[in-house]
Amino acid sequence: MKPILLSSPLQGFTDFRFRNAFQSCFGGIDTFYAPYIRLNGRFVIKPAYELDIALNNNRTLEVIPQIMTGKVEEFLFVTKYIQSLGYKELNWNLGCPYPMVINKGMGSGLICEPTKIDEILDRVHSETDVIVSMKMRMGYHNAQEILHTFPILNKYPLKNIAIHARIGKQLYNGPVDLASFEECLHHTDHTLYYNGDITTVSEYRTIKEKFPTVNHFMLGRGLISDPFLPQMIKENNDEYPENRIAVFERFHDMLSHQYEQKLKGDKHVIMKMFSYWEYFAKTFNDPKKVTRRIRKSKTLDSYYDNVKEILDHEYELAYSASWR
Ligand SMILES: Cc1cc2nc3c(=O)[nH]c(=O)nc-3n(C[C@H](O)[C@H](O)[C@H](O)COP(=O)(O)O)c2cc1C
Repeated sequence: MKPILLSSPLQGFTDFRFRNAFQSCFGGIDTFYAPYIRLNGRFVIKPAYELDIALNNNRTLEVIPQIMTGKVEEFLFVTKYIQSLGYKELNWNLGCPYPMVINKGMGSGLICEPTKIDEILDRVHSETDVIVSMKMRMGYHNAQEILHTFPILNKYPLKNIAIHARIGKQLYNGPVDLASFEECLHHTDHTLYYNGDITTVSEYRTIKEKFPTVNHFMLGRGLISDPFLPQMIKENNDEYPENRIAVFERFHDMLSHQYEQKLKGDKHVIMKMFSYWEYFAKTFNDPKKVTRRIRKSKTLDSYYDNVKEILDHEYELAYSASWR
């Protein structure tokens, strides 16, 4: 059975521009989770969020919007908004690890508060018919936190729980904790999706072999650094297509041209594209050389020259190089 692959959201990266460019050049992703909507106490949907999940901007994509909140009124407000657009499912982010978020009782800081999670899910399920799915870490301080939350989560008809197999305190450091993920599989009635550090076909195979009952895998940073990866995983094939560079170049240009339209001034476009190159560079033999070259670009013309130079020859593409 082919795995189901989900694009894990990265705020600032996997917006509708990225998703559309990706979809038209690569494929392999079944569903895209949009980066979170966060209200910050104001009951207004910011224009950037509106654009990101507007149906017109996601015509060929299967998208699930996401919310990050610790307040039921915000959850209900965003539910109403996404339902007014025609979405049926809202994903709840209990994974964000950053102190600014944790201190406000959101993201992975909520995992150790089952009572609060219960209150929110109870009202959402009694007052709306939205389908709720979860995206979680295994805790903030330790990986037992999620185990105490599972009995509460078992009360609700959640579509699934996607688990990034780290704890919040780790941020993105250190290895994923596969033993604790395995514990999770034994302690919930819900379908679990695996997320964390799948950056090559062989890493995917290792995870799949370890968890044969899991058939949903979310790819985040690995998808940005190597957008060929989802299709290769789907096909169980670790050979890149022969026209790898041409396809990547087309994708790159689709992305950068969209940002040229959105952002004012060469500098902002270059900075935006540079943030992508920090991921793209990881599949080249010499990532530092690649980012140094991109960083040197002062104008858009020189930026495109540098990209061409990199893709044409100077920095050979590594075969399945891990990006960490
Ligand atoms: C810059 C950045 C932004 C992120 N934004 C989100 C987000 O909006 N929502 C979310 O659920 N996770 C977010 N994440 C977490 C990723 O979706 C993913 O869970 C994490 O990177 C682990 O998966 P990976 O190893 O495949 O990247 C973000 C991660 C990074 C590095």
